[in-house]
Amino acid sequence: MKNIVVTGATGNIGSRVVLELAARNHGQHGNHGNVIAFVRDPLKASPLAAAGAVLRRGTLEDSASLQAGFAGADTVVLITAGATAAEQAKTAIDTACAVGVRKIVRVSSLKASVDGPTDPTRQDGRTENHLRECGLTHVILRGHCFMQNILKGIRSIRDEGKLYFGSGSGKIGMIDARDIADAAVVASIRETWDGGTFELTGPAAIDFETVAAAIASELGRDVGYVPISPEAAGEAARRFGTDAWTASVLTEYCAAYAKGWGDFTTPNLANMTGHAPRSITDFAREVLVPAIHTM
Ligand SMILES: NC(=O)c1ccc[n+]([C@@H]2O[C@H](COP(=O)([O-])OP(=O)(O)OC[C@H]3O[C@@H](n4cnc5c(N)ncnc54)[C@H](OP(=O)(O)O)[C@@H]3O)[C@@H](O)[C@H]2O)c1
Repeated sequence: MKNIVVTGATGNIGSRVVLELAARNHGQHGNHGNVIAFVRDPLKASPLAAAGAVLRRGTLEDSASLQAGFAGADTVVLITAGATAAEQAKTAIDTACAVGVRKIVRVSSLKASVDGPTDPTRQDGRTENHLRECGLTHVILRGHCFMQNILKGIRSIRDEGKLYFGSGSGKIGMIDARDIADAAVVASIRETWDGGTFELTGPAAIDFETVAAAIASELGRDVGYVPISPEAAGEAARRFGTDAWTASVLTEYCAAYAKGWGDFTTPNLANMTGHAPRSITDFAREVLVPAIHTM
């Protein structure tokens, strides 16, 4: 029996981790203790409660709420978000140490490094260093570019048959965020990967011509890739309401991908989860096309 707390529990990855852990608790895989979703908005998290998760309310900036949130936990799946992610993570790691958490599963980002080319890379580099120094058992999962990012271009795909992106012909080992959740689940309930840092990628490094072709094939209509500059990608995101930090991060990532920074894959996802990583075709068929049809 062990209690597992998931932060970022209403997000893409966190919600899937909570639902899967809750399902395992009620299924034939044995009881792993309470699944605890640390959330800002209990109403938004009501599907998690309905699935059997315990909700604890708080924010990653508020160490008092983190202390209450982490009390009695064996393991924390630590998901942070946005421009202050490193500060959020530091507060959460320090609180976890203070209240006796044994293990942290950290959702980090690809090639995390204090001198990386994007702000999340640098922030996650600082967080990883802090986590390694603090002495807690940990597993670090560095997710490559999420296929789910393509959902931000869903209107131009539907309305114009065009997919705009700023990575030129750079290849990217992009991953379906559902696979990162699957890895976080097994890393939180097994000890096999403790102490490790794992780059998690999709099955292939692909350029956006390939992404557009996969979408077109699943949608049954022409979809063409329109390369734009990294700066134009950031500016377009800003025009559509994205905050300034996220838009500048998009520009940084596009510039890095255009230079081949993301052109790699690893076998780690299959090794950890026992299933092959989902392909861009799987993502287009199971996530993107249904999203277009329900818009
Ligand atoms: N996009 C990529 O390609 C990529 C690649 C690698 C890693 N990552 C990183 O992976 C992580 C998870 O991604 P995701 O898609 O699951 O994120 P997401 O869907 O944006 O969800 C973020 C979660 O964090 C919560 N949150 C945000 N600020 C918070 C705060 N101050 N206190 C408490 N909770 C807070 C949100 O809660 P609310 O619902 O209340 O807003 C939400 O549950 C992120 O850190 C992301 O940067 C992304």
